[in-house]
Amino acid sequence: MALRDIVKDGQPSLRKKSREVTVFDDKLGKLLDDMRQTMIEADGVGLAGPQVGINRRLAVVEVDDFYVELVNPVIVATEGVQVGPEGCLSVPGRNCNVARPYKVTVEYQDRYGNHTSLQAEELIARACCHEIDHLDGILFYDKEYKE
Ligand code: CO
Repeated sequence: MALRDIVKDGQPSLRKKSREVTVFDDKLGKLLDDMRQTMIEADGVGLAGPQVGINRRLAVVEVDDFYVELVNPVIVATEGVQVGPEGCLSVPGRNCNVARPYKVTVEYQDRYGNHTSLQAEELIARACCHEIDHLDGILFYDKEYKE
């Protein structure tokens, strides 16, 4: 495994729409391993492809004992709402409140291309929404929640 450089806000690559992952090979597995290590090293709870300069629809999310690799993720259902603070490894030093669904159902593929889904709530749901936004070039502060 190897640490990847995290792309910082201001780089145009963070604002592009990422393309679908179509090849599920060892290179993809290695990338996901690197992303997880990079996220842990940076003390984050999620990291998306564009944040390591990869214009593909993939992300990792890790909250406490929960870890998931999301390839081609799509939010297919949501329930409720939660407002809370977010930050981003690509936007150091900035935090703001964002309204997110309280619960989400995400359909995605694993690193081998198998189709699966997860239901998540609270922080995991928030992290999934934040990372999936990255795949569409959206940063958390675009959605700043103002009372
Ligand atoms: Co982020």
